[in-house]
Amino acid sequence: MRAHWRTRTGFIIAAAGSAVGLGNIWRFPYMAGENGGAAFILIYLALIFTLGFSVLMAEQAMGRASQHSPVRAFRSLKGGFWPVFGMIGVLTAFVILPFYSVVGGWTLGYIWKSIEGVAREKGAFGAFISDGGLTILFHAIFMAMTIWIVHSGVRNGIEKWTRVLLTLLLVLLILLAIRVLLLPGAEKGIEFFFSPDFSKVTEDTIHAALSQAFFSLSLGMGVMITYGSYMSREKPLAGDAAWVVGLDSMVAILAGLVILPAVFAFGLDPKAGPSLTFITLPEVFAQMPGGKIFGVLFFLMLTVAALTSSISLLEVVTAHLEDEYQLSRVPTSIGAGLLMFLLGIPCALSFGAMADVTLFGMTFFDLMDYLSGKILLPLGAMGITFFVGWVAWSRVVQELNGEQGGIPGWASLWRLMCAVIAPLLILWIMFEGIAG
Ligand code: TRP
Repeated sequence: MRAHWRTRTGFIIAAAGSAVGLGNIWRFPYMAGENGGAAFILIYLALIFTLGFSVLMAEQAMGRASQHSPVRAFRSLKGGFWPVFGMIGVLTAFVILPFYSVVGGWTLGYIWKSIEGVAREKGAFGAFISDGGLTILFHAIFMAMTIWIVHSGVRNGIEKWTRVLLTLLLVLLILLAIRVLLLPGAEKGIEFFFSPDFSKVTEDTIHAALSQAFFSLSLGMGVMITYGSYMSREKPLAGDAAWVVGLDSMVAILAGLVILPAVFAFGLDPKAGPSLTFITLPEVFAQMPGGKIFGVLFFLMLTVAALTSSISLLEVVTAHLEDEYQLSRVPTSIGAGLLMFLLGIPCALSFGAMADVTLFGMTFFDLMDYLSGKILLPLGAMGITFFVGWVAWSRVVQELNGEQGGIPGWASLWRLMCAVIAPLLILWIMFEGIAG
């Protein structure tokens, strides 16, 4: 029999763990910093609570209705060529997890560097990520932890560990937020965060907010189909989905409230981009009383956030191979994890030994990032929403209320989202992404 979550909150915990990740803590604050602060955040929230929520429910409903991992979910709901979109999801995991684990390794490395007190030295980040031996070592440790949790199963691995890790993450985040908000000068960051300047909003802002919304909620590759397939049918779906969206955006906002006010308080540049976390923040911690311990806690939190996401990526592949070929979990998760570890090696070397090896003008790391974010995830998300809106609608709509029966009044609004609005917006993300 198929494994099910042990507790009623099992799906919420695991799905929120998947959603809350590097996307919330590393990417969201610098995106907000680069795209004008509050206006970006408002647009982001509007998108995540309408579109993100609808697509999340579409995946969750497919999983619960079919009780299968993505490929078989498509096959059992319709068949034909549709399972291809499930395959795209499995493939996408193989593209995302290798470089995600490399960045996870960087966060681990930064716990250690913060303990040593060398994280803030000039050029430290560049020197660290170009050190192949070291980054591969941390990538290996990070991947080993991911494999460990997934190999222990849905209940004793994913559900149990995510509950512990997500709680730890929230405690650390609140602690850090309190510390930062007490810094003199933090008001400027809060103001930047809460006073929207809509004159700065361009097509690019909306585009950035939209792709961030999808990435942050882990949509488009069947994570939520897989996690939904471990749900039983007793509860209506919308409540769980709302919790996941709520927790995910709360963590993003709190992370922004830790990072941006800290950056402002010390007069640093909020538009530093991806290096905001690894270069600007260590400088902030170095200047702040008690900064060493808070620096260590910050990177610990980042590692925890990354880990609960990486397990969802490995779980999609593991569940697929288990279901499709009747393989057992332990060797499957170890085998798939090892393969992704190997694929991660050229990603880890992309900032050092293999920096000059490029394909289509991109390093291996950038290529994996581009391929997943700009092509595979949008393609998967479009397949899923179109499928739910047009092809499997009559079956999937039954899932909304589950065993309670009946169809809620807002179902037609949800259908409009899945059938028309989401596919069109995703098409737009894709074309813009590839052209731009
Ligand atoms: N949502 C995670 C983050 O914010 C990343 C992630 C995990 C993801 N699994 C995914 C993104 C599946 C897209 C698809 O960091």
